[in-house]
Amino acid sequence: MTPLHAAVPLPLRSLFKFDRFAVGEAGSLNRLPHQNTKTPKHTPMLRRPRRNRQSAAIRGMVTETHLSTEHLIFPLFVLDGRNIRSEIHSLPGIYRFSPENLLQEIESCMNLGLTNFILFPAIAEHLKDTTASHSWSEKNFYLQVARDIKKRFPECCLISDVAMDPYSSDGHDGLVRDGEIVNDDTLPILARMSLAQAEAGFDMLGPSDMMDGRVGYIREALDEQGFTKTGILAYTAKYASAMYGPFRDALDSAPKSGDKKSYQMNPANKREALIEAELDTMEGADMLMVKPALHYLDVIHLLKENTDLPVAAYHVSGECAMLRAACNNGWLDFERAMPETLLSIRRAGADVILTYFAKEWAQRFGAKQM
Ligand code: PBG
Repeated sequence: MTPLHAAVPLPLRSLFKFDRFAVGEAGSLNRLPHQNTKTPKHTPMLRRPRRNRQSAAIRGMVTETHLSTEHLIFPLFVLDGRNIRSEIHSLPGIYRFSPENLLQEIESCMNLGLTNFILFPAIAEHLKDTTASHSWSEKNFYLQVARDIKKRFPECCLISDVAMDPYSSDGHDGLVRDGEIVNDDTLPILARMSLAQAEAGFDMLGPSDMMDGRVGYIREALDEQGFTKTGILAYTAKYASAMYGPFRDALDSAPKSGDKKSYQMNPANKREALIEAELDTMEGADMLMVKPALHYLDVIHLLKENTDLPVAAYHVSGECAMLRAACNNGWLDFERAMPETLLSIRRAGADVILTYFAKEWAQRFGAKQM
C-alpha cells in the first residue's frame, strides 16, 4: 500500500506531520490515529479554520458574500384583461397578472424593499404575426402597463424584454424566412420595439434575442431619438437551454417549429461567452447577463473576471421549478435551499440576480442583508 504522505506535496509534508500515520512499525493505515503510539504531545496544527466558524458573531465578521433586495430583479408576467391572477402550472407560486393586479403585486413588492422588475407580456394568439408588429402598436397593452407602473412607482427600475417571440406567429426571437432565422433583417424590428418601450418609460431594455449586432443597433436607435438615459441589460451569454420550459408555458411562446440553437449559445461553450461579452461591451451594453444561472456558474465567474461592467445572472424558470418541485415533495427544505441557491449565484460573481424567488426572499429577509 502507498504511504498516505506520498499524496501530499513536498512543501506541505513538513508542515503536517503525516509521518505519524505512515505505514510501518509504528502503525498502519488500519489503525486509527489516536491508537498510534507515536502521537506527539503537542498538536502541530497552527491553522484551525474552525476557529472562524465557532459563533454566529465570528461567522458574521468573516462572511464573504452578501445578498440584499437591491441585488434582486423580480420577473413578472402580465396579460391583458381584468382581475386575473393565474398561476403557472409548471412554476407554482408564480402568476400571470392582468394590469391592475400587477400594480398591486408591484406595490406589495416595493413594500418589501424590492425595487427592480423585468416585465414579460403574454400576447393573445390573434395579435401575433411574422414581424411582431404588435410589439410597437399603440394598442399594445404591455406599453400601457409600463406607463402605468412608472407613473405610480417612479422610483422603481422597470426592465423590458426585447425579442420577437411573445409577438411572433413563429415563436422565434428573430424573423423567420424560409425556415431560417435571419439576423440583419431582425435588427430594425428589434429597434422599433425598443423605441416603443423606451418611449413608454422603461428604465432599461433587455434584448434577449441573441441576434448579432443588436445591442449596437438598438443603442444607436435610442440615442438618435434622444433616449440616451435608457439602459441596456444585454442577454450576453444566453444558452439554448432546456430550462426555459415553464417560461414558455407562461407566455405560450415556444417556437412553432425548430429550436433556438442557431442563435442561442451551445451549452458546451464557455470561451464563446467572452466573444459575446466583448461585442456587447463595445456596442454599448450597461450590464452583461448570463442565462441560465445555476448550470452556468462557471460562465458567471468567467465574465466577472473579465469585465468591468456589472454582471447579471438569470435564475430561470426551469431552475426555480426544479427547486420548488423538490421542496413541495418534502425532499428539500425551501427555507434553506432557496437562500443558499441565490447566495451561490452571487458567490460565483453575479452582481444582480433575476429570480422568481425574489419576492419570497424579500418576505423572509426584507431589506436587510442575509
Ligand atoms: C425569450 C426569453 C426566454 C426567457 C426570457 N426571455 C425564453 C426563450 O428564450 O425561449 C426565459 C426565461 C425563463 O425561463 O425564466 N426572449
